[in-house]
Amino acid sequence: MPKLATKEREMLLQSARDAVRHAYAPYSGFKVGAAILTQEGKIFTGCNVENASYGLTICAERSAIFSAVASSPGGKLGLRAVVVVNEKEVPCPPCGACRQVIAEFGADTIVLFKSEQGYQELTIADLLPSSFRLNQS
Ligand code: THU
Repeated sequence: MPKLATKEREMLLQSARDAVRHAYAPYSGFKVGAAILTQEGKIFTGCNVENASYGLTICAERSAIFSAVASSPGGKLGLRAVVVVNEKEVPCPPCGACRQVIAEFGADTIVLFKSEQGYQELTIADLLPSSFRLNQS
């Protein structure tokens, strides 16, 4: 079971907490921040961005991942970890859509989030077994 080093964990939590301050959540009032660590050791952050047309809202985790892809040559992103926090410090496991997007970039990706039992580190394979893969043969 892969684990984050204490230093990585602290750095990512701090980055995610900084990102919360950028959240645009006038409808739910629930501000979320995410920080991702790439296999290369780079950190990218994201926040939730809501819209008057509610369904267009993007979660913090996907916002961070898409930002990383936009900076990755050829769109190649190796994801090592995703950390998600919220302003209220309440439990906030990644939603199903974000799990599918995380799984796209690595089955071993570590996900750190606040659960009912406190902060928990799991792999995306634990959080989303049998994620969708496109098989065209
Ligand atoms: N949200 C996230 O940013 N990440 C999650 O994993 C779950 C939910 C956001 C979406 C919406 O802006 C707000 O939280 C309330 O659902």
